[in-house]
Amino acid sequence: MTHVLTALAWPYANGPRHIGHVAGFGVPADVFSRYMRMRGHDVLMVSGTDEHGTPILVQADEEGLSPEEAAAKYNRIIVEDLRRLGLSYDLFTRTTTGNHYATVQRLFTGLYDNGYILEKTTQGAISPSTGRTLPDRYIEGTCPHCGFDSARGDQCDDCGRQLDPTDLIDPRSRINGEAPKFVEENHFFLDLPAFADALNDWLDTRTGWRPNVVRFTKNLLEDLQPRAISRDLDWGVPIPLDGWKDRGDKRLYVWFDAVIGYLSASIEWARRSGDPEAWKKWWHDPEAISYYFMGKDNIVFHSEIWPAMLLGHNGDGAKGGQPGELGKLNLPTEVVSSEFLTMEGRQFSSSRRIVIYVRDFLERYSADALRYYICAAGPENQDTDFTWSEFLRRNNDELVAGWGNLVNRSIAMAAKNFGAIPEPTELEDVDRELLDTTAKAFETVGELIGSNRIRAATSEAMKAVAAANKYLADTTPWKLKDDPKRQATVLHTVLQAVSDLKTVLAPFLPHSSQKVHELLGGQGNFAPMPYIDEVEDLDEGGAVSGTYPILTGDYHDAPAWESVPVKVGTQLSKPTPIFSKLDASIVDEELERLNN
Ligand code: MF3
Ligand code: ZN
Repeated sequence: MTHVLTALAWPYANGPRHIGHVAGFGVPADVFSRYMRMRGHDVLMVSGTDEHGTPILVQADEEGLSPEEAAAKYNRIIVEDLRRLGLSYDLFTRTTTGNHYATVQRLFTGLYDNGYILEKTTQGAISPSTGRTLPDRYIEGTCPHCGFDSARGDQCDDCGRQLDPTDLIDPRSRINGEAPKFVEENHFFLDLPAFADALNDWLDTRTGWRPNVVRFTKNLLEDLQPRAISRDLDWGVPIPLDGWKDRGDKRLYVWFDAVIGYLSASIEWARRSGDPEAWKKWWHDPEAISYYFMGKDNIVFHSEIWPAMLLGHNGDGAKGGQPGELGKLNLPTEVVSSEFLTMEGRQFSSSRRIVIYVRDFLERYSADALRYYICAAGPENQDTDFTWSEFLRRNNDELVAGWGNLVNRSIAMAAKNFGAIPEPTELEDVDRELLDTTAKAFETVGELIGSNRIRAATSEAMKAVAAANKYLADTTPWKLKDDPKRQATVLHTVLQAVSDLKTVLAPFLPHSSQKVHELLGGQGNFAPMPYIDEVEDLDEGGAVSGTYPILTGDYHDAPAWESVPVKVGTQLSKPTPIFSKLDASIVDEELERLNN
C-alpha cells in the first residue's frame, strides 16, 4: 500500500467549465485515482479553483463584480460541474482560503530564508492612457525566440517559452492596442538558475513520463532565468516580509500561489479530517508517489517552477539551506500532461460561443456517456477533435449496443428463466475462455491505467465486453430451454463476466458500474461519489467571506480490483437499461446550438 497524491491543475474561477477543461486531465485523473484506490492504495486527490491573477480580475470587471464576488460565484459553479461528473476529489477547495494564504507565505519564507528569492529592479508595464498596470497576459507582441507574432507577455503559445513583457518585440496592449510604457519597479524573483543541477538530476531519475513532457522539460532546463514572482496588483497573496506585507499594491504572482495549492489543499484536507498531521504521509514519506495532471500549457509550472520551489524550500538548490517550516517536501513523481481538445474542428472559445459547458452537456446526456467519450477518445497524446457524430456513434454503438446490451440481456434472461443467479454445472472450454478473458482484463486494463494510458485501457476493457457479447452469440442461451443445466451454466458464466466487467469499468464509468452492481443484487457503495459540503474557512487572513462549498467524499468502500465470484441464488429482477440510446437528430441539434 502506497500513499498516492493525485494533483489536478486548478481551474481559474472565471467561468463554468467546458468539456475541453475536463477532457484532458479531469476525467483521466479520476480514472487513475479510482483505480489506485481499488488497488488498495491510499489516494489523496486534491485541487481547487485558482482565484487570483488577471483572468479573475478581467472577468470581475466585465460583470461589475469585485474579484471576491466573481471568484465565489464561479467557484460554486465549478464545484457543481465537477461533482456531477463524479470526479472523486478528496478535497476540491479554493486559493482564497486563510489556510492557503498561510501555506503560501510559509513556503515563500522557506525559499527566502534559504536565499532563493532575489529582490530586483525591473521594468513594469503600465498603460499610458489609464496609468494602470498592464498584466503580462494582456500584453502581446512578437516572440524573440520563434518569431510568433501573437506571443503573450507571460508565455509564447507557439514555442512554449516563458517570457517577460520586456522580451516581446513590438509589445502592445491587448486591451486597446497601445504600446505599454515600462517603468522601474522592485520585484521578487525566484532564482531558477540555482536549481539547474538539482532539476536536471531529478529529471534524470524520472521514468515513465510521456515523451513530450520529458522533451519539453529538458528544453526548459537549458535556459533558466530568474523568474518574477511578485506583481503590481491588489488581488493575491500578500508578500510576507516587513515593509511589504501591508502594501496594498504588491502581491505574489498567481502562479506562485496556485501551485502551492497542492500542498495547502492537502493540509486543509488533513485538518478537516481530524488528523491535522495526516498530509505528511503524502508529502514527507519518501515512498509516497505523486502524479500531477494538467493540459500542456501548464507543463512549465509543474515540471520546472514547482519542483524548483520545492527544492528551494527543502534547501536542495545550489545555495544549500535548511528545510523550511513545512519540512522536506516530496517532488513530483510524474507530470502527466494532456494535449488540447477542439470542438468540431475549432478551438473552444467561450467568447465566440464555440463551446459546450459541462452543465449543459449533463442536462442532456449522462455523466458516463461524456466520461466514456473522453476515456475512449480524449486528447491524451495528441490534439483531438470532439464531434457530435462521434459522440453519438460511441454512445449508441459502444456503450448502449456493447456494454449496456450485454448487461441487459444477461440479467434479463437469468431473471426470466431462473429469477436468480443460476447454479452452474460443468464448464465447457468456451465458458472457461470467457472467464479467462475477463480475469486477464484486470491485469491488462490495470496496467494501462496505472501508466495513464487511459485510451488504450478503455479499448482493452471494451474488447472484453465484446468477447462476452460474442460468447452470448455463440452459446445462444435463449435457445437452451430444453437443456436447463447448460442454460444455467451459460447464464452463470456470463453473469460472472458482467460482474467482473463492472469492476473493470468502474474507474471509467462509475455511475453505471454502481447500477450494474445493484442490478446484480449488490448493496452499498460500489463506486463512491463525491459530495458537496458547505464549510467555513478554517483560518482568518484569506479572502473568503461567508461559507464556501468543498467537494469531498469517503472513498474507503471502493471495491478491490479483482474478480469476486457471483453468489448463486442472488435474486434478480428485470433490469432497467443502464444507458440511453440517442436519436441521430441530436447531431444536427447540437451543431445548430454551436453555430448560434
Ligand atoms: N489556473 C491555471 C489554468 O487554468 C492552472 C493552475 S494549476 C496550478 O491554466 F498548479 F497552478 F494550480
Ligand atoms: Zn515563441
